[in-house]
Amino acid sequence: MAAKIEDIGACVFDAYGTLFDVASAAAHCKDALGDKAEPLAALWRNRQLEYTWLRSLMQEYVEFWQVTGDGLDYAMAALGIEDAALRERLMNIYMRLDAYPEVKGVLTTLKGGGLKTAILSNGSPKMLNSAVENAAIDGVLDDSFSVDSIGVYKPHPSVYQMAVDGLGVEAGRICFMSSNAWDAAAAANFGFRVVWVNRFGQPQERIPGQPEHEITTLIDLPALLGL
Ligand code: LAC
Repeated sequence: MAAKIEDIGACVFDAYGTLFDVASAAAHCKDALGDKAEPLAALWRNRQLEYTWLRSLMQEYVEFWQVTGDGLDYAMAALGIEDAALRERLMNIYMRLDAYPEVKGVLTTLKGGGLKTAILSNGSPKMLNSAVENAAIDGVLDDSFSVDSIGVYKPHPSVYQMAVDGLGVEAGRICFMSSNAWDAAAAANFGFRVVWVNRFGQPQERIPGQPEHEITTLIDLPALLGL
């Protein structure tokens, strides 16, 4: 294993796909979606992200809740699903997604080790508060930074700068975790120390920025930090 990550002041986490299980909404509706649950989850997530990038380039920011609904509408239309009640059910679940099972324990260990902990996410404050509350992890998080306060989505460098300014910790002492390979690369390119949580066994993106470590779940994070 590569060397431990030393001299860290704060651990900052991406939210969706890293702390919260984005596939769980469709999985909870498998009764109605059947075989379409997995394709819907994948297409929904892809369009949701693509719309954040497109809107940022177009300078047409709207909050992540709307982008999430637009992505779902596209995915449902593409898969030939017309069901307003199901749409509402999926969105309601998205508002309070399941956290991955190891999240609370890992955050507790990091806090116990004297590290600051925070979320840095595209999610709107309401979405993040709701997911944090549902996962009962508010007591082990110091901060939650939403792009909503700057009106541009990841991977714009000003998003990563929010954590530096908000925590008062320089970029080189922030350890950033994301399951999204493009977010991990961009955060490394910005200057964070990055651990890519490659939950989905994806190949590396071909964009600037090289994460320092790759793990498959957050379980291995405390050891990397010497805790
Ligand atoms: C977020 C998305 C990128 O939470 O997962 O910012």
